[in-house]
Amino acid sequence: MASFETLRWRDGKLELIDQRLLPGEIRYVACDSAQAVATAIRNLTVRGAPAIGCAAAYGIAVEAKRVAADGRFEANLQLAFRTLAESRPTAVNLFWALERMRRKRDEHRGAAPAELADALLREAHLMRDEDVRLNRRMGEHGAELLADGMRVLTHCNAGALATAGHGTALGVIRSAVAAGKGIRVLADETRPFLQGARLTAWELMQDGIPVTLIADSAAGHLMHRGEIDAVIVGADRVAANGDVANKIGTYSLAVLAQRHAIPFYVACPLSTIDLSIARGADIPIEERGPEEVLGYDGQRWAPADSGARNPVFDVTPAALVTALVTEKGVTNRPDCEKIRRLFD
Ligand code: MRU
Repeated sequence: MASFETLRWRDGKLELIDQRLLPGEIRYVACDSAQAVATAIRNLTVRGAPAIGCAAAYGIAVEAKRVAADGRFEANLQLAFRTLAESRPTAVNLFWALERMRRKRDEHRGAAPAELADALLREAHLMRDEDVRLNRRMGEHGAELLADGMRVLTHCNAGALATAGHGTALGVIRSAVAAGKGIRVLADETRPFLQGARLTAWELMQDGIPVTLIADSAAGHLMHRGEIDAVIVGADRVAANGDVANKIGTYSLAVLAQRHAIPFYVACPLSTIDLSIARGADIPIEERGPEEVLGYDGQRWAPADSGARNPVFDVTPAALVTALVTEKGVTNRPDCEKIRRLFD
């Protein structure tokens, strides 16, 4: 288990480690309403598909508790679902988690508000615990793909910080290391929000797993020199045909990996697979404000009047994915049929 908690329930509130401040400062932000959780998701206090899903579930629970004594309980809860659903568009775990909370609410139709609020909180705890359990299972399956001594490149942060614990892509690496394999991690900085430089490097260092940062643009050069043995990333949404939406820059890595005959692995739980979306081109891709590209943390390095585009995810076609790792096991060369079978 990682030595920090990405999200925790304390004194009737959801507490989130503030990922905007890492690695400089470890500070928790307390959220006591759905609105506060939605803001934390939107401004990247909490980020990473499974962590966003868990936070949203707690957002509903905390709101139900807040408005339980309110005459407009039903309407307020309805508003909470809408507010959270509008926080970010790409990670399907957000909508998956809200749907599961909606089902829990429906199961308790007619119950007293306080009783429903308790049931929703229990469900949120369950989802958090399940996430860690599934990540561990995924890690065990995926660890078989990594051999002792491998140099593994990862992108963004698909670790404990992006989940309720253990991580998806970093979970596979953690499990391989726990099995005694010497894995050397190369982490892309991950422009523009620097999840690799700030979060992946910090998280792996907490566990004593060797990590070397590289500029995103150095990946091709290192692959060409034979210094990368495998690539493993997480996912924000996988379409029914196996196309993968993940942090911007993932597609370029997949193309490079194919060019250099390096395996390209994607690790995610089934809750990241969206069977209602036929192909990657239909996945909504979030575009964030230009300021994230023009500078960072209040510092601006681009000319004052320059514009910028900031699509924060891209889509990797299934044809470039060597294997998909889920809690169900390793699916080589994922396609429609193999993905459908995962849900049988
Ligand atoms: O914008 P972010 O930081 O939320 O993007 C996160 C990613 O792209 C991760 O790779 C993905 O959510 C998988 S996390 C286990």
